[in-house]
Amino acid sequence: MKHVTLRQLQIFEAAARHLSFSKAAQALFLTQPAVSMQIKQLEEQAGLPLFEHIGKRVFLTQAGEVLLAHVRAIAAQLREAEAALASLAGSFSGLLDIGVISTAKYFVPALLAEFRKRFAQAEVKLAIYNREDILARLAANDCDLAVMGLPPEGLDCVAERFAPNPLGIVAAPTHPMSRRYRLALADLEGETFLIRESGSGTRQAMERLFAEADIHPRRFLEMGSNETVKQAVMAGLGIALISLQTARHEIAAGRLAVLPVGGLPLLRSWYVVKLRQKQLSPLTDEFRRFLIAEGAPLIATL
Ligand code: PGA
Repeated sequence: MKHVTLRQLQIFEAAARHLSFSKAAQALFLTQPAVSMQIKQLEEQAGLPLFEHIGKRVFLTQAGEVLLAHVRAIAAQLREAEAALASLAGSFSGLLDIGVISTAKYFVPALLAEFRKRFAQAEVKLAIYNREDILARLAANDCDLAVMGLPPEGLDCVAERFAPNPLGIVAAPTHPMSRRYRLALADLEGETFLIRESGSGTRQAMERLFAEADIHPRRFLEMGSNETVKQAVMAGLGIALISLQTARHEIAAGRLAVLPVGGLPLLRSWYVVKLRQKQLSPLTDEFRRFLIAEGAPLIATL
């Protein structure tokens, strides 16, 4: 029944309800031949007669009964869809489907908790990726909204800045560089740098920093996450450029020292990003506005 139209099903339902083509025609403001014609086409598609005419009376055949049950179920589904869409349009419920860059996972949950105090009915799907993966997700329309450290290049997006993201170089407090009062980037050329995996935005920021300063550290150890980078720095394996928000507890507890390097911290920002063509649900759009209006002060209190 591939070519059946909703209109035909509606006409069939009216004829089945009234058990009369003329009453169905009246109810739908159609002529009786128009109703007969649509029913005939529907019967052709069904491959079975749907009505039988006995004397002057019209009855549903068994096939007609079966189809009627389905048509009523379809109508109920449509009403449900209508109600779901209406409630989505008029209220802030539904799913918040956001992709967050791995470095932002240190503060996004706290922002979500605050947001859900106001919109308790919001369901949340939070996925954590590195920069490369998040760009692929956005491009595939696989998440509604993304939080990242640098707007995507080469993707038609709207990226709005909502909070500062300072990047600094950290070392173990026992590291000799931690005792220095002032350092230039060039002083660190001989150090071992712990770096994130390729595809990471933090790594990209570090590579740009070194290229712009024209310094060429020779020893790198690659670690797959901020967490591992921090643990490795604390264990004395080397030093690392990281988003200071990811290390705030360790810095406050004196387990990591921020090196006083001239020109640092690197002042980057957090951005909330969506594809330009993406139609955000009212809830998701509200979360976007919430990040822009309240993200920075909330992050500052963490
Ligand atoms: P990352 O990204 O978690 O992929 O390093 C952070 C950023 O883009 O600032």
